[in-house]
Amino acid sequence: MSILISGGTVVTPSGSRAASVRIDGETVAEVGDLAPRPGEQVVDAAGCLILPGGIDSHTHLELDCGPGLMTADDWVTGTRSALAGGTTLMVDFATQFHGESPTEGLAHWHRLADGRAVSDYAFHLAFTEWKPEFVDELPALVEAGVTSFKMYMGYYGSMMVTDDQILQALRATRELGVTVGFHCENGTVIAARVAEELAAGHTASWYHQHTRPEESEWEAAYRLGFIAQTADAPVYVVHVSSAGTLDVVKDYRARGVRYAAETCPQYLVADNSEYGPEPVGGVADPAAEKHARKFMMSPPLRDASNNDRLWRLLADGDLHFVGTDHCSFTLEEQKARATAFNKVANGAPGIELRLPLLWSYGVVPGKITPERFVAVTAENAARYFGLFPRKGVVAAGSDADLVIFDPNRTWTVRHDAMHDGTDYSQYEGRELTGKVRDVFLRGRLVVTDGEPLPDLPPGRYIPRGLPDLEVR
Ligand code: URP
Ligand code: ZN
Ligand code: ZN
Repeated sequence: MSILISGGTVVTPSGSRAASVRIDGETVAEVGDLAPRPGEQVVDAAGCLILPGGIDSHTHLELDCGPGLMTADDWVTGTRSALAGGTTLMVDFATQFHGESPTEGLAHWHRLADGRAVSDYAFHLAFTEWKPEFVDELPALVEAGVTSFKMYMGYYGSMMVTDDQILQALRATRELGVTVGFHCENGTVIAARVAEELAAGHTASWYHQHTRPEESEWEAAYRLGFIAQTADAPVYVVHVSSAGTLDVVKDYRARGVRYAAETCPQYLVADNSEYGPEPVGGVADPAAEKHARKFMMSPPLRDASNNDRLWRLLADGDLHFVGTDHCSFTLEEQKARATAFNKVANGAPGIELRLPLLWSYGVVPGKITPERFVAVTAENAARYFGLFPRKGVVAAGSDADLVIFDPNRTWTVRHDAMHDGTDYSQYEGRELTGKVRDVFLRGRLVVTDGEPLPDLPPGRYIPRGLPDLEVR
């Protein structure tokens, strides 16, 4: 039997209109001025927006970060938390660990996610090293629906790849029509600065951002642009933290390089004051240290002037989509273990609050329009990552991944009411406007009044097509 969502406003990047949405099975059957059919289930969306299910372009679920350090969210909690926040699909980073082949990395991620995820999902393939023989495996990975890859320019001595390796990889990905995302930081200089601070007895988490200033991101983004230009290959920068990085991207785009950019809510709604003042003697007091660790991530938060500049770049089409870099650890145990800033579990949760944070800090004060909100939370990622038009849009024939979003509901972030596997939210106590009410995944109700239903059926792996590189 079909379902009619009626009385709401359907939002797409090209406009918003009062309309109803009819779901038939797993897909959207019709969008328009629709009257209920006899016996049809009707969902009243009066006063609410009907949005395409969110697509998070950047997550790390169940990522093994070294001995005894597994992310707090596995594929069960992470995807449940995603649904509660209106994200119906994430493109997670399947990871080729040292000594593994990329094919083994992908198989590993299928073992983790298949049958356990409750949202839909897709995979990028992230390389923790580069070997020339990987080139031979790429066509089969693309055939399996992995049409984007990731390399790290940061993390010297563990995952950092060299410029000539990047060039080699890009020459191969170019031939396949796929894209590569880059973690842009100058890993070599950062490693030297970290060693210097530690040698001086400076262990506080404040030194994390001090040793990896925003120029380190600009520099890597600039170098990447040159390598991409040399290889004539498309690339994108993941988790852009600094507005200056977008000056670099814009420059290369103007010169014809196919260069896209992703940011994350934390770089739009938080700043480096969260790390506190420079600690006297290099060691922070315990309360300041604990707070700083909530935002311990790479790249780190930047000075507040970046927030407004990033919002403007997002509004103007110079930033293309917003992922979360959800890479969660517990504060009381996993983040507490470290005795120095370079050992603190690196990453933060984010998947459940992406939509409400962007609405509250972006749409409510008029920094972005509701239409742009939909573009950067769903449609652009669907296009760039080869999921469109199956995902990322409310249109006849698309998967019925739908979010009924109350744009006026005010509420306070309380981690106790959230669904992830961590023990904190870095946004605890923030007052937000705009909340996910109901979520449908391929036509099935999975969240009602913000609460995921119990016993959700498994989500589905969605193989991806080739990227549409023309996103704006
Ligand atoms: O701090 C972060 N971002 N951890 C996850 C790995 C990455 O760099 O994306
Ligand atoms: Zn990264
Ligand atoms: Zn990441």
